[in-house]
Amino acid sequence: MRTQVGIIGAGPAGLLLSRLLQLQGIDTVVLENRSREYVEARIRAGILEQHTVSTLIDAGVGDRLQREGLPHDGVHLQYPGTRHHLDFAELCGRKVWLYGQSEVVKDLIAAQLDDGPPLLFDVSDVVPEDVDGDSPRIRFTDADGTPQVLECDAIAGTDGFHGVSRPVVTAAGGRTWERTYPYAWLGILADVAPSSDELVYAWHPEGFALLSMRSPSVSRLYLQVDPTEKIEDWSDDRIWDGLSTRFALDGWELQTGPVTEKSILPMRSFVSAPMRRGRLFLAGDAAHIVPPTGAKGLNLAVADVTLLAEALVRLLADERTDLVDSYSDRALARVWRCTHFSWWMTSMFHRSGDDFDAELQLSQLRRVCGSETAARELAENYTGLPLDR
Ligand code: FAD
Ligand code: DHB
Repeated sequence: MRTQVGIIGAGPAGLLLSRLLQLQGIDTVVLENRSREYVEARIRAGILEQHTVSTLIDAGVGDRLQREGLPHDGVHLQYPGTRHHLDFAELCGRKVWLYGQSEVVKDLIAAQLDDGPPLLFDVSDVVPEDVDGDSPRIRFTDADGTPQVLECDAIAGTDGFHGVSRPVVTAAGGRTWERTYPYAWLGILADVAPSSDELVYAWHPEGFALLSMRSPSVSRLYLQVDPTEKIEDWSDDRIWDGLSTRFALDGWELQTGPVTEKSILPMRSFVSAPMRRGRLFLAGDAAHIVPPTGAKGLNLAVADVTLLAEALVRLLADERTDLVDSYSDRALARVWRCTHFSWWMTSMFHRSGDDFDAELQLSQLRRVCGSETAARELAENYTGLPLDR
């Protein structure tokens, strides 16, 4: 089997990269070790930045997003006694969209299976080889159990944090940075209309809470919990009680409803550099993880593959190496900006430490709510800085 770019992993990064390359006449094969059903059912991020939305629309996979996505002009920031609205449109002229990552993935898979290049689910034993030369290959076992070899001109490692690609890159050197946080998120999906028109990020002495949504009839909510908590110990009533306490505001009530999904998500920051070894290029969670506060993970994966697609087209169509040579540095500049923003949002909202830390957090929140300059800094980062090509 032969292709120009072998892509490992059919998350948003791998699927979008395949789509962008297809539109430029570059052949790809995408290899995914899970089933289509599993990949489409994974509930993850929900907020799309403006550049992500434009990229999906330009790639011809934005029809449903434009019909069903919910444009949001701002967010609410809350601390006891105060709920403050930040108007992104006014502060920076941009907005964000609520559209679940699972929907983005479904749209990309449907487009690829319709008229796109091969997308193989349920493969196993995926191994990138000979990445230092010009003819790398991927060995894998297909869904029928037959060993296969995919000869490539380049390989994209878009196989997430636990994938096989990053270890191949780090084996040749480079370095990683990591921060684990002393808290986790308990996330739920509930069949109840969102209690707020826009997202609410809430600081509370008992911990952070976030009100989000997936549609006019489905709410998505998160609650800060200790990372050692077990989901079995959290009944629906206990979750709703915790959320109601943390979102409490005079004259406002949190509407509750049947919980259809619940899980606990660990939180970490992680960056691996460089994002390349020879002809193997990392993108998305394979190279970096941000804590979810600020909703950067998915958007950063999209930004990486936008740069990577241009670089690979230049390499394979024009035989010029300038953009692949600068890919890692250009991608990492945005990665570190988002790593900082996600760390900052996370540190501002989550309770840990002592009362001194709490007062610093509240002071920072009052500053963001009271100063247009501070609010604009949050708004520009949240809605996504322009892609630096
Ligand atoms: P992934 O989505 O992880 O895709 C990688 C793909 O590679 C997967 O399909 C995987 O099955 C496949 N794969 C792995 N190993 C192999 C292999 N050896 N061979 C072949 N295929 C392989 N971000 C937010 O902004 N907000 C959130 O609320 C949020 N919630 C999250 C919840 C969870 C549980 C997780 C894990 C992440 C969350 N994120 C969130 C982050 C966001 O979802 C990720 O940043 C985004 O999925 C990155 O996309 P990706 O394509 O790089 O990686
Ligand atoms: C969602 C997730 C986030 O991490 C965030 O900051 C906002 C919204 C969500 O899943 O809807």
